[in-house]
Amino acid sequence: MRADNDVTRIITTMPEVQELLRTADAIYHKGWAERNGGNLSRLLILPNEPDFYVQREFPLTIDVPENLLGQLVIITGSGVYLKNVMREPEASLALLRIRPDRAELLWGLSGTFDRPSSELAAHLLSHGVRLAADPSHRVLVHTHATNAVAMSAVVPLDEREFTLKLWRQCTEAVMFLYDGVAVLPWMPCGTAEIGLRTADKLADRRAVIWARHGVFASGASADEALGLVEIIDKAAELYLKIAHLPVTFELSDEQLREMSALLGLTVREGYV
Ligand code: 13P
Ligand code: ZN
Repeated sequence: MRADNDVTRIITTMPEVQELLRTADAIYHKGWAERNGGNLSRLLILPNEPDFYVQREFPLTIDVPENLLGQLVIITGSGVYLKNVMREPEASLALLRIRPDRAELLWGLSGTFDRPSSELAAHLLSHGVRLAADPSHRVLVHTHATNAVAMSAVVPLDEREFTLKLWRQCTEAVMFLYDGVAVLPWMPCGTAEIGLRTADKLADRRAVIWARHGVFASGASADEALGLVEIIDKAAELYLKIAHLPVTFELSDEQLREMSALLGLTVREGYV
């Protein structure tokens, strides 16, 4: 069996894991990760698997998606401060093998944080639906993006209305959020319920706003998933900056259609 520090080197030098570490750091620097706010996960495919042994097991009470069975998922630990993930990857991350009724810890959680993120159900269920919708899917990012959360306090929690308000703020919004942004009403976090409702929304979209909490977004890479949150938050920031001013111009339905036609985008049906 390989020494543990060999396994650590193999995992932490993978470009996909490096990207995850940079993303955790970037989120912290955006001011979106107060204390342990936010969590990240990635489906990991190892070309040559080291000889892992199961260090611990975490029971799962959800119906684990079939397409995740036997898969490896790397996820931040519960309570981990995203600002520390880059410096302490082995203490901050958990590499899990997904089984029908449990997650096996193969690597990580080497310090004081001893469980995967409390949003594990949302991550597993959402990986399942996103992978089914798009085989290139790999990453989920949950973060407390400030402007997106603020907007969820002042705009009705209707996803068409919410999405249209985002789209009208700037050219990029419809370009990158063409499939629309789902909205969930406030509910307690870290539960199977929020996981089920999130995955339900992500079956045909890549991002969900959790009212008065944060954003949950997916992508083929961490850059793509975080990129979606960045666009949502930028549009939300513009909205909040100007909503109280006498706005003289915002993108009309006609202009949104023009942009979509130009880019060949299939925008969410019935929105414009
Ligand atoms: P964890 O530290 O358990 O990942 O929780 C953070 C969070 O943002 C919950 O929604
Ligand atoms: Zn959160």
